[in-house]
Amino acid sequence: MSQLNLYPEIQINDEHLVNVASVRQLSPFRYPGGKTWLVPQVLRWIQKRRDKNCKLFIEPFVGGGIISLTIAANGLADKCILVEKDDEIAAVWKTLIYGDAKWLAQRIKSFHLTIESANELLAETPKSIEEKAFQTILKNRTFHGGILAPGSGFLKNGENGKGILSRWYPETIANRILNILHFKHRLEFIEGDAFEIIRDYLNDGSCTFFIDPPYTASKKKAGSRLYRFHEVDHELIFRSMHESSSAFMLTYDDALEIREFCNRYSLPFVRVPMKGTHHIKYYELLICDNIDWWN
Ligand SMILES: C[S@@+](CC[C@H](N)C(=O)[O-])C[C@H]1O[C@@H](n2cnc3c(N)ncnc32)[C@H](O)[C@@H]1O
Repeated sequence: MSQLNLYPEIQINDEHLVNVASVRQLSPFRYPGGKTWLVPQVLRWIQKRRDKNCKLFIEPFVGGGIISLTIAANGLADKCILVEKDDEIAAVWKTLIYGDAKWLAQRIKSFHLTIESANELLAETPKSIEEKAFQTILKNRTFHGGILAPGSGFLKNGENGKGILSRWYPETIANRILNILHFKHRLEFIEGDAFEIIRDYLNDGSCTFFIDPPYTASKKKAGSRLYRFHEVDHELIFRSMHESSSAFMLTYDDALEIREFCNRYSLPFVRVPMKGTHHIKYYELLICDNIDWWN
């Protein structure tokens, strides 16, 4: 595959494999395809660039949002704009940023989780955005792999046979929610389409994009069972970034189709190792406006 890239391929060695436990976990989600493992590289990218403090940081496919939360918590941007199309995920972000986050934290702490109570709660029609947010967090923490897409369901064995309780840490989740209150003035959330925000800010030279779409561009289509919204015009992302005057980082699986897009739109990349489920090592590509920051 390496003959397909225009730029000398930068490999990141195994010593850069990140121990996820060492990263400050700020998101209340346990998100499928979440980027906690990439936090150190993103911090390095942001801090090494000349204008260390970017005005506007935009994450158009925000999901669990660990990258934007890290940027906002560390004051590395004046404002972070988070965009998500899935209304269930959106309910959580709206509650955290504009709603009654304290209610949500308290609801999580006081909920007695059993299969019966979870089924009962999830059968209710939510009467407020906060109630919908609670249902989303409950599903995210008790469904297999944190997956909310149709077809997902409760964890059967979970960790150590603990079933649905194995990822339900009420105190920890509530504390993360309350912690976000300290820096939510730097967060803005939009429920909508990533491509609209990309188009709106494409030529605003003062913003930085972090783009982590569902991985459905390659034949493997790994992201298609993870998210309700997984059909994405990947080529439009590459074309837009090629035309953009803003800084950006795109993340993708290391696949032939992605390398072809990089070639077609003259975008350089860094190849980074990561450990997936069952500790299997594989590689992802960080595709950026330039990769000088890496040296
Ligand atoms: C790979 S996940 C992002 C994970 C995130 N970086 C994290 O660390 O948790 C991609 C997200 O994009 C969302 N999505 C898919 N299509 C979208 C669109 N057109 N506009 C906005 N969000 C979209 C999916 O619902 C999913 O939450």
